[in-house]
Amino acid sequence: MHREDMDEFVEQVTAQSDLLQIVQSYVPLKRKGNRYWGCCPFHGEKTPSFSVVPDKGFFYCFGCHAGGNVFKFLSLIENISYFEAIKLQAEKLGIPMPQRQKTPKEIARDKEIADLRKVNEMARDFFHNCLTMTRLGEPGKAYFASRAISAETIEEFKLGFAPHAWDKLSTAFLKRGVKQEFLLSGGLAAERQNGDGIYDRFRNRIMIPIADERGRVVGFGGRVLDDSTPKYLNTPETVLFNKRRILFGLDRAGRAIKQAGYAIVVEGYMDAISVFSAGVRNVVASLGTAFTAEHCKLLLRYASAIYFCYDSDDAGQKATIRALSIVQGTGATVRVIVVPDGKDPDEYIRKHGAEAFAQLVKKALPLVEYRLQYVLKHFDHDSLEGKVKALHAMLPVLTGIREPAVLGEYIKRLAQALLLDEGIVRDELRRFGHQPLPEDNGPVQREPIRQAVRRTDTALQRAGRIVIRLAAQDAGILQHFTAMVPLEGVNDAVQREILTVLQEFMAQGKNSNDTELAGRLSEAAMAEFSRAMVEDLGVLSETEAYSNAVRVLRKAYLNMRYVEHSQRAAELARQGDTAYVAELNQAQKIKSEMEELQFE
Ligand code: GTP
Ligand code: MN
Repeated sequence: MHREDMDEFVEQVTAQSDLLQIVQSYVPLKRKGNRYWGCCPFHGEKTPSFSVVPDKGFFYCFGCHAGGNVFKFLSLIENISYFEAIKLQAEKLGIPMPQRQKTPKEIARDKEIADLRKVNEMARDFFHNCLTMTRLGEPGKAYFASRAISAETIEEFKLGFAPHAWDKLSTAFLKRGVKQEFLLSGGLAAERQNGDGIYDRFRNRIMIPIADERGRVVGFGGRVLDDSTPKYLNTPETVLFNKRRILFGLDRAGRAIKQAGYAIVVEGYMDAISVFSAGVRNVVASLGTAFTAEHCKLLLRYASAIYFCYDSDDAGQKATIRALSIVQGTGATVRVIVVPDGKDPDEYIRKHGAEAFAQLVKKALPLVEYRLQYVLKHFDHDSLEGKVKALHAMLPVLTGIREPAVLGEYIKRLAQALLLDEGIVRDELRRFGHQPLPEDNGPVQREPIRQAVRRTDTALQRAGRIVIRLAAQDAGILQHFTAMVPLEGVNDAVQREILTVLQEFMAQGKNSNDTELAGRLSEAAMAEFSRAMVEDLGVLSETEAYSNAVRVLRKAYLNMRYVEHSQRAAELARQGDTAYVAELNQAQKIKSEMEELQFE
């Protein structure tokens, strides 16, 4: 595929994509002038600070500072990469993507994946129909009823039932032309020992379809109706189904997770289904495996905080501690929702109701607090050996605390609980971390992975955005501006990045609305650029706003140079170098220009 073909493809998709229409299919918007407003889909809010300017092709949220063009919007809301967003849009518009020739092997694999997806979808419908529309499904219906799972929930999660028979699914699917190899490789059937045909893997179980984050069925969990074992049977690992990477429910929970700012992770599908049906929708379940680093990475694309809500039994507590250690060090905020009286979330909700569970979520314990309670309960801290073990178990979480005051508080509490000297705790912590403690050297800085880009907003930055906005539309403006303020003189690094890229673009005769621009800018710069494009200039015309902006920025630039020259002059004078006179003259000249600007 040629570079130019690709450029042309992207341009075509851009030209045919209607930002306003696309945003409106996710977010209700209200028009005010040439701008549309709504509540931001990327953070929870009640008063609209999310705005779209269709003429310019950009959106920007004044609350969380998310911003960009149509593809950025799609990539954020659908949790896909920027390039995937372009492809998605192209598919919708029916614009074919320029293709690199695929190898026969790649073609075969693509086909296998597509076929497996199809078969899984058929299986989901088969199990669901069996449950809801046939007499064979009655035991399944009775089971769901016994667990107070409503018809709506069955519909929502497309729950199903695998009939009490050896080959209902296999026979039906073979008859419908599904190849036997797909039933086997998809994990829906197994070969008979005697080599004579195949039989259904799932029999006499309620069936829970498991989807990837985009809602495509990749496998199933099947639960027995009684106490027999194994209680749950999952699809074996297939090309589509990788337990370490899949979180049950993420396809439904994704948007709620973004809005709440945190994901709730539970142990079982039944818990996730219960919690979701109780109206707490930002919930996912790991599939009976431990929570993995891959799960963590996946969730952090949606929010920067994870709340674990595992069973409160011993195994659940151990699993919680393991999960916490996975998340630690990623910069994510972690809390633990403690379910009282030895219950799992599903049982708790059934016994105490949805509202009571929502209260538990509100009372979620910070990681350190949970860890401290756990350590105090599980180590015999009367013996010296126990004290040391307890102390060491706390060190990893203590080093993760960034606020000195909070750290101090926990050191004190731990020392008191273990009847140890605070100094000992501090020494151990220092030795463990091999890094200076906050009290010594200021807080250990660690950026959370996905914190909203929070920027201060000064008059200078507002002026910078006005320049960016006009420069993006007119190369002449950019030239004028750089004559007044060289780009090194633009103090704000993000704005300097944008202007520098714009300058390169214009030098190549390219248009700033080019999607390529978005690809070249950092995340922060893209958001700032969008903000510049959508920001209201108040009552001023663009030219007035621009000339004010240039004045403000030039003054700041002159001031910077004035300070430089005066400092240099002072230094030279101290060294007895007469060159200081020239420096002073420079400084003086700059100062008078600044004064003139004052009166303009
Ligand atoms: P219910 O008894 O239906 O309420 O299930 P639960 O969610 O309380 O199950 P439990 O806490 O026992 O297990 C949590 C998760 O571990 C389940 O959702 C399954 O994913 C997994 N799991 C439990 N038992 C088995 C098993 O026998 N085999 C497999 N493969 N997974 C299991
Ligand atoms: Mn349970």
